[in-house]
Amino acid sequence: MKLGSLELEGRAFLAPLAGYGDSPFRVLCRRYGAAMVYTEMVSSLGIKFGNAKTFGMLAFEPGEHPVDFQIFGARPAAMVEAAELLAKAGVDAIDINMGCPEPKIVKTGAGSALLRNLPLVDAITSAVVRGTLLPVTVKIRKGFLIDDNVTEEILAICEKNGVAALAIHGSTAVQGRSGSKDWDVIAAAKAKASIPIIANGGVKKAEDAKRFLDYTKADYVMVGRAALGNPWVFEQINDVLGGSVPREPSADERFDVMQEHVDREVALKGDVAGVKEMRKHLAFYFRGLPEATTYRNRINQIKDPHTLKELLDEYRGLCIGTSEEVGHDAR
Ligand SMILES: Cc1cc2nc3c(=O)[nH]c(=O)nc-3n(C[C@H](O)[C@H](O)[C@H](O)COP(=O)(O)O)c2cc1C
Repeated sequence: MKLGSLELEGRAFLAPLAGYGDSPFRVLCRRYGAAMVYTEMVSSLGIKFGNAKTFGMLAFEPGEHPVDFQIFGARPAAMVEAAELLAKAGVDAIDINMGCPEPKIVKTGAGSALLRNLPLVDAITSAVVRGTLLPVTVKIRKGFLIDDNVTEEILAICEKNGVAALAIHGSTAVQGRSGSKDWDVIAAAKAKASIPIIANGGVKKAEDAKRFLDYTKADYVMVGRAALGNPWVFEQINDVLGGSVPREPSADERFDVMQEHVDREVALKGDVAGVKEMRKHLAFYFRGLPEATTYRNRINQIKDPHTLKELLDEYRGLCIGTSEEVGHDAR
């Protein structure tokens, strides 16, 4: 399937996940079948002033492409400059964040504040689309306040300005990360859309993704939290969409991937920062495994990759001894 000029294999995307969606995690999600991976959101000004490079946010591995790099900001000119720099850094698409509810972002007029400022949505999307040859995508929530729904207005602006695809999270900014997800709003947008629609919000397992796509008729599905500690979810979604039974990875495969994730984080961020970064990921990988709390607490005391490897090897032995197949269905 095509998204702008990109030829994609599959229909499930890794959602932008601040604090998680870095290059090591994106590589794993792509390997296990994500059709495209979004980066965590980065400030357009941070890219312009070089901070993103300092923090390793402009590091890409061959195995993670296509990468849709998400930027946030409220100044069209700065967004265009960021898009130009990102194109040179080798990203495959630019995504514009119009859903972040964090007060420190909203008060600058960026993120979900844009849902209440449609003239600025128009200015930013037209400037960025004109300012880059890359496909430009937009990610929104359905509105800002609980009863708001600006989906169709924003869809019309995106279509007019040449945006390549629109991702819709069927909740409002004031709902934050809780609250019900409105599938009907996504279905209604899809029924009118001339550009691909990406359905987002609430997929917990592969079967949910199929139901979501069937119900909304969206072109793609975007998965966030269900991918944490579980990059296999994409392969499972591809299996279910292809009519086959989703494969559960063995305990050995899980631990191989955990160790690879550690190694990649350490290579990118250094021993101390890499190990620290992995604590939160491992907490997700451990969900559903025996004695997860004990091992999570032990991991949190570790500061070097060697000791972390020893502990993961010990835990692998325990998990394999307990059961050959430890599924994430226990979550
Ligand atoms: C830890 C975390 C970080 C997130 N960071 C971003 C972000 O940087 N940009 C963004 O547009 N959405 C972000 N989101 C929202 C997700 O992309 C997604 O819209 C939301 O989690 C709903 O999808 P899900 O139910 O599949 O998780 C974040 C969500 C979580 C849980």
